[in-house]
Amino acid sequence: MAPSLEVQEEETALPFSNPTHTNEAPPHKSKVTVVGSGNWGSVASKLIASNALRLASFYDEVRMWVYEETLPSGEKLTDVINRTNENVKYLPGIKLGKNVIADPDLESAVKDSNMLVFVTPHQFVEGICKRLVGKIRGDVEAISLIKGMEVKMEGPCMISTLISQHLGINCCVLMGANIANEIAVEKFSEATVGYRGNREIAEKWVQLFTTPYFMVTAVQDVEGVELCGTLKNVVAIAAGFVDGLEMGNNTKAAIMRIGLKEMKAFSKMLFPSVKESTFFESCGVADLITTCLGGRNRKVAEAFARNEGKRSFDELEAEMLQGQKLQGVSTARELYEVLSHRGWLELFPVFATVHEIAIGRLPPSAIVRF
Ligand SMILES: NC(=O)c1ccc[n+]([C@@H]2O[C@H](COP(=O)([O-])OP(=O)(O)OC[C@H]3O[C@@H](n4cnc5c(N)ncnc54)[C@H](O)[C@@H]3O)[C@@H](O)[C@H]2O)c1
Repeated sequence: MAPSLEVQEEETALPFSNPTHTNEAPPHKSKVTVVGSGNWGSVASKLIASNALRLASFYDEVRMWVYEETLPSGEKLTDVINRTNENVKYLPGIKLGKNVIADPDLESAVKDSNMLVFVTPHQFVEGICKRLVGKIRGDVEAISLIKGMEVKMEGPCMISTLISQHLGINCCVLMGANIANEIAVEKFSEATVGYRGNREIAEKWVQLFTTPYFMVTAVQDVEGVELCGTLKNVVAIAAGFVDGLEMGNNTKAAIMRIGLKEMKAFSKMLFPSVKESTFFESCGVADLITTCLGGRNRKVAEAFARNEGKRSFDELEAEMLQGQKLQGVSTARELYEVLSHRGWLELFPVFATVHEIAIGRLPPSAIVRF
């Protein structure tokens, strides 16, 4: 029998005590490396750098691994970041903090650190992890800010699991309604840390990211938090189609509602431990709303629909995003593989249709054919 889409109510998340007001001396200092330096990676470095300077439990210096690029000026991106304290390609106009040191050498960037923040487009993370095997400290804790999943022969693999499996380390996640450019200019937003069992570690991540304009809470539900962050990009593509076809606000709200229902059902079918309450955290409904209103997936999908699907997502991504990466289209493909493999396609019409439109099998208007 096909599984039902109905899910059970569960308890809400426990709040954390305010981590920035503690008088206890830290047992030892932590050193942080941010693995990734795109739009969000640069903003994450900025948040972390301000806290590393302020809190005694962290070393001041924050390393940021940069996938090296040569700029049109002929200079290396890393050199420019270290000279100007700005990521001129991915976050122009924003100072990262003088304690952020850009490093193009992955091995040297991570070698002294016991806290690794993974924030690259998801398609690169497996290659990065393979290069890190045997190169990191034995006491490393990780957190993933990456939205996406890998589909393996044995089924879908969340990015935090991939990091844990390759490197033999614990990996939390941080997701939320976080359009990087808005946080870069210190507009208030919230985020959710998902952790597995160790509350102390979760509290440390909360401490590292929280600022007066970035409010972080934690829930014991890694899979729920990570699936929210991953799946909402697919719904955002659907919302972009609706915008491109000028279908109006009611239609967009309907797509968002059905999309959220599919997100919740898929997550719980894949991981029965996923909590209902997680969908009401920043990583859930709030991230879905912001992504469907303002994110890059929505924007490129809108252009795709306006062009009646005649210009591919690859072409539009290259033209509109200047090196930034779309996650929703590849996630839709990966999701489609999982759905067809498990015989779930009919249960998830929004998820399935997004992929079929993206590959040209259906026209953009099919997004509202139920
Ligand atoms: N930008 C946002 O608003 C935002 C918000 C929340 C989460 N995220 C998530 O953060 C993750 C990273 O996104 P981003 O916005 O920082 O990146 P981005 O799309 O702005 O930039 C792409 C990055 O990939 C790097 N890159 C290119 N080729 C590479 C390769 N072969 N190997 C390794 N790196 C390579 C580039 O140097 C650049 O740093 C994604 O999973 C995204 O979904 C982004």
